[in-house]
Amino acid sequence: MDVCLIEQTVKDVQCDVLVIGLPYKKVGQQSKEVILDENAHVVNSLLGGLIQSMYDDGEFKAELGELITVHPMGKLAAKRIVVMGLGSQEKLNTQPIRRASALASRHAQQTGALQIALALHSKEWNIDLNNSVRAEVEGALLGLYTFKKYKQANTNGNGRGITRINLLANHANETMLGQAVDHGIALAEATNFARDLVNEPPNILTPSELANRASAMAKQCGLECQVLDRPEMQELGMGGLLAVAQGSVEPPKFIILRYRGAPESENQGIALVGKGITFDTGGISLKSPEGMHQMKGDMAGAAAVIGAMHAIASLKPAMNVTALVPTTENMPSGTAYRPGDILRIMNGKTIEIVNTDAEGRLVLADALSYAVKNGLSPIIDVATLTGGIVVALGSVMSGMFCNDQKLSNEIIAAGQIAGEKFWPMPLDDEYKEAIQSDIADIKQTGGKYASAVTAAKILEHFVGDAQWAHLDIAGTDFMDTKKPYQEHGATGVAVRTLAEFVLRRAE
Ligand code: BES
Ligand code: MN
Ligand code: ZN
Repeated sequence: MDVCLIEQTVKDVQCDVLVIGLPYKKVGQQSKEVILDENAHVVNSLLGGLIQSMYDDGEFKAELGELITVHPMGKLAAKRIVVMGLGSQEKLNTQPIRRASALASRHAQQTGALQIALALHSKEWNIDLNNSVRAEVEGALLGLYTFKKYKQANTNGNGRGITRINLLANHANETMLGQAVDHGIALAEATNFARDLVNEPPNILTPSELANRASAMAKQCGLECQVLDRPEMQELGMGGLLAVAQGSVEPPKFIILRYRGAPESENQGIALVGKGITFDTGGISLKSPEGMHQMKGDMAGAAAVIGAMHAIASLKPAMNVTALVPTTENMPSGTAYRPGDILRIMNGKTIEIVNTDAEGRLVLADALSYAVKNGLSPIIDVATLTGGIVVALGSVMSGMFCNDQKLSNEIIAAGQIAGEKFWPMPLDDEYKEAIQSDIADIKQTGGKYASAVTAAKILEHFVGDAQWAHLDIAGTDFMDTKKPYQEHGATGVAVRTLAEFVLRRAE
């Protein structure tokens, strides 16, 4: 896929589909008015006022996601024009642009377009032009993503696909926008890389294969990669990861990716930790069959941090970042760990096992301990950790647990730019009572109430004095249904937020 900035006007740009965007503004109490920016004006007048009259007649209301196709019949070089509603100007920010760009690109592809031109940014909309262009590129590349490698016939409407996306740059400073385009491409590619990892079936994406893909990516992007095997885990005392792995014939791996953007610095830098359960059966505390196949996505946290490292390697912030991924299957077998077992985590603390399906916190406990031992701070972990967060927040927002207000604000702000939502959840000490054990330092689970919180309280035991945030993405990592702007399946959530967070810290 080629994505290019081109210096052409809406009149002259040759393409199968030209996309223009129209927000509206409120006028007085009752009525509203469509906003035609310079590009829309040109199109409107070349077509004899068609767009304005479609709005005036009520055929087109400029609501976000509304889309009308117009055939210019030779009055412009474009074969077709897609007129996209952008919604109220008051709410216009990067997210509506990202959505609109995704919708329009998918629509164009489904209706046979090979080359499209996007004009979904404008100086006249009062939002940062760089961020708009970035969101426009991200939207298109994220919207066009599909995972069809295991289907014999590739079916996207006409059996062909978009090969070129042109962005119109008729006025703005060229080089400045070029950077925004590259930024958008880097973030979208990293997100789609993470989506591929999550969408892969669990018979293919084993812990070893996850390590292979991370290592291949690292080689390609110039990151350092180290993969620890069982003997090294034993040496380090990673009792959580080893226990979860002992029921599987697939060997566990502990993947470490290092980016050194500030080699001179004393500061060890940021740790990104991702839960990498390549398949979660629940183990001896076996899950019920309904929906179990979706537990191939239990490594979405791992995919998010590996994807974020991909983006960081392309964008090169002046900051040291280390990704840590404990990865294994959680299987029932004669060698599996059991309810009643007591495990010792790398930092020396013991955990009484009561439910082998609460495996994520165990592998994360070792990885967090590893991060602390190596002086990394802040630590951000990403995990499909609990069903409780799905009950609380559904698929709209990810839960965020954080021991530092400033860090929490930074993550939410980075998420806003990235188009991802994180909702602050409590870490109040009264929740500790639920995870007290009579015979070990901690009990593994806190019962059915506030299970997302008690899971976070367990992780808190392993972060030492580091600034720490835990992102529970169990509800947001996977879309069961196809959306007009997005294919069903993996979302790649948190890749862009993590990358944006690191970029902002480096500035
Ligand atoms: N991987 C699951 C959490 C999950 C649930 C992810 C739904 C995606 C969708 C996790 O390992 C798990 O099984 N958690 C249990 C813990 C419980 C046994 C304490 C849960 O939340 O039900
Ligand atoms: Mn589980
Ligand atoms: Zn799990």
